[in-house]
Parts: sequence; C-alpha cells; structure tokens
Amino acid sequence: MNLFAFKLGRKTELCLGELESIFGIKNLIENNAEFAIFKLNLEDTEAQNLQNRLGGTIKIIKIFDSSGRLEESISSILKKTFKDRSGKIPFAISLLNFTNPKEINIKHLLNFSKKFLKSLGLNSRFVNKDFSSAESATIFKARIIEKGIDINIIKGNSNIYMGETLAVQDLDSYSKRDFDKPRRDMATGMLPPKLAQIMINLAGTDTKTIYDPFCGTGTILTEGLLMDKNVIGTDIEQKMIDFSRENLHWIKREMKDKIKETSRFRLFVKDSRFLNKTDFPEKIDAVITESYLGKPISSLPSKEEREKTFRELANLNLNWLISVNKITEKNCPIVTCIPAFKTGQTFEFFPHFEEIAKQAGYKISHSFIYDRPDQIVAREIKVLEKSQSKTQYH
Ligand SMILES: C[S@@+](CC[C@H](N)C(=O)[O-])C[C@H]1O[C@@H](n2cnc3c(N)ncnc32)[C@H](O)[C@@H]1O
Repeated sequence: MNLFAFKLGRKTELCLGELESIFGIKNLIENNAEFAIFKLNLEDTEAQNLQNRLGGTIKIIKIFDSSGRLEESISSILKKTFKDRSGKIPFAISLLNFTNPKEINIKHLLNFSKKFLKSLGLNSRFVNKDFSSAESATIFKARIIEKGIDINIIKGNSNIYMGETLAVQDLDSYSKRDFDKPRRDMATGMLPPKLAQIMINLAGTDTKTIYDPFCGTGTILTEGLLMDKNVIGTDIEQKMIDFSRENLHWIKREMKDKIKETSRFRLFVKDSRFLNKTDFPEKIDAVITESYLGKPISSLPSKEEREKTFRELANLNLNWLISVNKITEKNCPIVTCIPAFKTGQTFEFFPHFEEIAKQAGYKISHSFIYDRPDQIVAREIKVLEKSQSKTQYH
C-alpha cells in the first residue's frame, strides 16, 4: 500500500465524494480544499487508467516522502530512470495547499533541480512560468508525465509531502467528448462528461449495468460505455432517443480502443413515470440520471414561476422514483440531479425533496451541489438508497 494524493476539481466536496465512494472512507488519510490523500494498492501503470475514469480528480500523485527535507527528497526522485534521455527533459514543480506561496522558495528549487539533473549528465528545462506553481494544464500540454517529471510539494495537516505526478486529466479527450459529438442539445442542458463520470462513480464500483430514465442526448450512457458498463437509456421523446443512439454509435467508433467489445447499450422511448418490469429483463445495478430540470431559462424567473417549477417537478420526481423503485432490486441506488435556483450569492433549493424520496421508498445518503458561475440553475446531486421501511412498491 502507498499513499496517493488526488488533486481535487473545482467542486471539492463532490470530487471528494467520488473518491470516497470508490476507495472507501476508511482509506482516506487526510483531505482539505485542494487534495485528498488515500492509502491504496495502485500500480503506477494503472494510474492513468484510473485518472481517465475520475471526473473530479485533476491529477494523481504518488507520495514518496514526508520528511520535509525538500532538496534531499528532490535529489532522490530525480535519480529515477527517464525514458528518453536525449534532448531536454521537461520538468515542473507544483505546490498544493500553500496559501502563502512565499513559504516555499520555488525559484531556488527549480534551479537546484536543473543543476542536479546536469550533475547526472541530463539537460533539462522547467515549464513553471514566472517561478510560480505549475498549472495542471501546462503539465498535460508539455507531456511532462511521459517525458519528464512533475514534482509536487504538498502541505498536509502536519507533514510536507513530496510526490510525483503519475497521471493528469486528459483535457483533449473531455473536450472531444463534450464538443465534437454529433448531437448536442442546448434546450435539455448540457451535462458535462466529467459530472456524468462523477455521478456514475457515486453509485459505487459494483455496477455492471446502469440505467438512465431521462437520457436526453446520452452523456451518462456514453460515459458509462467508457467505464465498461452496459447502459440502458430511455426518454419520453423519440428525438432524444435518436440523438442518444447517434452519440453512442459515435463514441463506439471514435474511442473503440477504449470501449470493451462486450459493453452493450439499449435505448427505447418511455415515460419514466410508467415503467414496467417486463421492459427490463436485465438486472439494473444503478440508476444514474439527470432528470428533467424544468424549461430552459435565460434569466432568473419570478418567485411564483420558481414555485410553479418546483411543484411540477415535485410531482414528476415522486412518480418516477416510485416507478423506478418497482423495477429495481433493493440494493439498487439512484444518483440523480434536481435543480436549485441561484439567487444572488445563495441558492433556492428544491423544497421537500427528502419527503418526496421517502414517500417513494428512498433515503438520501449523500447530497452535493454542482454549479458554474454563469448558470442560473444549479444542480443538486442526490444519492438515494432504498429505505428498509414498509414502503414497498412491488
Ligand atoms: C435534463 S435532460 C437530460 C439531458 C441528458 N443528461 C443529456 O446528456 O443530454 C432531461 C430529459 O428528460 C426527458 N423527459 C422529460 N420528462 C420525461 C419523462 N416523464 N419521462 C422520460 N423522460 C422525460 C426530456 O425529454 C429530456 O431529454
């Protein structure tokens, strides 16, 4: 077992929730607003594969020292075998969780590293701009992980950890999946692929077959295929089923080396308030969905309109949750989104969702908020588990 630091994305609680769901909270060593450290059995060669499945992690760092002796520690890691010793070896130093960057003399450490590499007979160049901490995007673009090294200095609760980056978020792949797919639909809203991955992971690791009852253009389904799941999608509109189908065929073509031959998808039109067991012969392991969030809007609606939206959605949510409860087994979780309006600096949350879930036979096990600065409607991500109470809809 080794220690690994995961640099968290913007919505840190949600990103941490994803990691806890996959690795188990018992393996969490420490966390703060920038990173989480877990004790794991992870081969270096498996790190990029893992990274590619984590929507909420920016990079994965293997901790190699926590003595706080920076130069000593840098010298020992720089003795590693570089694959390509010809040309200049690119390297970077990244600081995590240092609110006062002056705490670390990064300029000195960069020059120290360069000199040390020179003493080993290696020419090098660092990618840090203006002697400040390296950005993950720069590390990705300069292909530091394949060709050189990114050394991380991480301020923990009581230690300074030193670590080497093993994997970094593949920005090109996310952008391709988001913007190049044949069917996008502004009206149904755009679920970012990273958020779809996080939602799939929040349902745990034991999910072979996942179901999205509001599949729209199929983001959860395409991400599911990339994560080796069998996926089922339904939507009330034929047009959306057609869009999903096109996007699924596209991802299978474009990323065929990343999708297992055995992974299957199935799509059909269905109102999710009226699901029948006979439509689902396969066992569904998790329901992952961005359910209908209300009509698209370009400005904050009036209080009356917001209340009306919440009332309509309360009905829809109660009915589809009851309906899904009937067709799934008792350990089948749901990860869903409900809207929250952003009113100034605060949120107006969906009222009484806990009661709605309870009436449908579910309890909320986790709740997170996902918003972007430019959005009027934020998403609350809810993880639901079937309650053990008498409410059963079989
Ligand atoms: C927020 S969008 C989902 C977008 C999707 N995550 C994507 O990647 O494009 C909600 C979808 O729910 C569908 N919908 C609305 N009411 C429905 C119902 N009662 N049953 C099934 N689908 C419904 C809409 O047609 C729409 O495609």
